[in-house]
Amino acid sequence: MPDSPYTKLDTIAVHAGQYPDAQTGAVNVPVYLSSTFQLTGIGSDRGWDYSRAGNPTRDRLEEALAVLEGGCSGHAFTSGMAAISALVAMLRAGDHLICSHNVYAGTVRLFDQIVRHYGIEIEYVDTSNLALVKAAIKPNTRLVHIETPSNPLMVLTDIAAVSRLAHARGAEVSVDNTFLSPALQNPLKLGADIVMHSTTKYLNGHSDGLGGALIGSRPEHKERFLLVQKAMGGVMSPFECFLVLRGIRTLPVRIRQHEQNGRAVAEFLSAHPKVKNLAYPGLKTHPQYELAVKQQRGFGSMMSFEVESREAAGRFLAALRIFLNAESLGGVESLASHSATTTHASVTEQQRASMGITDGRIRLSVGIEDKDDLIADLEQALKAV
Ligand SMILES: Cc1ncc(COP(=O)(O)O)c(C=O)c1O
Repeated sequence: MPDSPYTKLDTIAVHAGQYPDAQTGAVNVPVYLSSTFQLTGIGSDRGWDYSRAGNPTRDRLEEALAVLEGGCSGHAFTSGMAAISALVAMLRAGDHLICSHNVYAGTVRLFDQIVRHYGIEIEYVDTSNLALVKAAIKPNTRLVHIETPSNPLMVLTDIAAVSRLAHARGAEVSVDNTFLSPALQNPLKLGADIVMHSTTKYLNGHSDGLGGALIGSRPEHKERFLLVQKAMGGVMSPFECFLVLRGIRTLPVRIRQHEQNGRAVAEFLSAHPKVKNLAYPGLKTHPQYELAVKQQRGFGSMMSFEVESREAAGRFLAALRIFLNAESLGGVESLASHSATTTHASVTEQQRASMGITDGRIRLSVGIEDKDDLIADLEQALKAV
């Protein structure tokens, strides 16, 4: 948008894809609850023919997503997992896929229990180690899929460096940007080819819907993902698109409060004697703090830490009064979850051990409540540990 008056994130979030309806002047994007559209003749239409292929409400969300990530096209799916499925749907038997070894376990379940059976070779690599990434890339490597920061250990991957390594060998790079949202990190601007989001999290922001997105950097991605949307059909519903569009309008404002609260909570936890191995990239003690400063515009509000055992974790979660013991993240309300039995229940104990996820690990998604209330809640719950 070279002649766009929207230059700053706060303005872009309110207006990208969200201009008034041409017919009625409605300032909010109408929800087009129509599966089909009247054609204007044989082989001609007004831009839409069937909602699986395209829907006017979805178009607006997809436009907003593309602008927020600085991409060529956005594509909305029924969930984050549907977006990852669409991403790998274009791989073929014999292709090699490299995936960060410390990722959301649902991604591992999809790759190991479904995608692998299509003859795609999948290799998990510690992508925070560039030498390992370099060594893993083979002539048939088509895609390097990274999650940074990773779930739940907050391990970072250098997006620019991995993109350089992959591109030199003809592979593309996709980044799961769910944990930071486009407000804090734009992988395409760092050299990645495709961005993936679970819009269920910060983009929706209110824990009231499921969704996922892919944003491509080139016209060939647009062609590729439009085909997958049409052929496989896992597209986001118009009403869900409206909810995500509404969430996006307040994304930068929410993220500022998430960010402030996240820092305050991390500082409190870092000084608490019962808290071990706190993972939060905004602390100078995080081994990849410098990389976080380089490639992120903030540190977000996701973190995880260990208490002494699974039992202690159970007592802590039961004692919380504001944080809810619930899976998911990125909503206005603060959540706490036991990683081994929630987000990482779908991988084996050995896989969890190799990722470094112990039975005492707890993940926090710090919401936008008052930080003093949140810290007081954690302080009283830690007494139960
Ligand atoms: C980093 C990350 N990616 C992808 C997903 C999957 O998204 P969804 O639950 O919308 O399918 C999640 C879900 O927790 C996640 O945390």
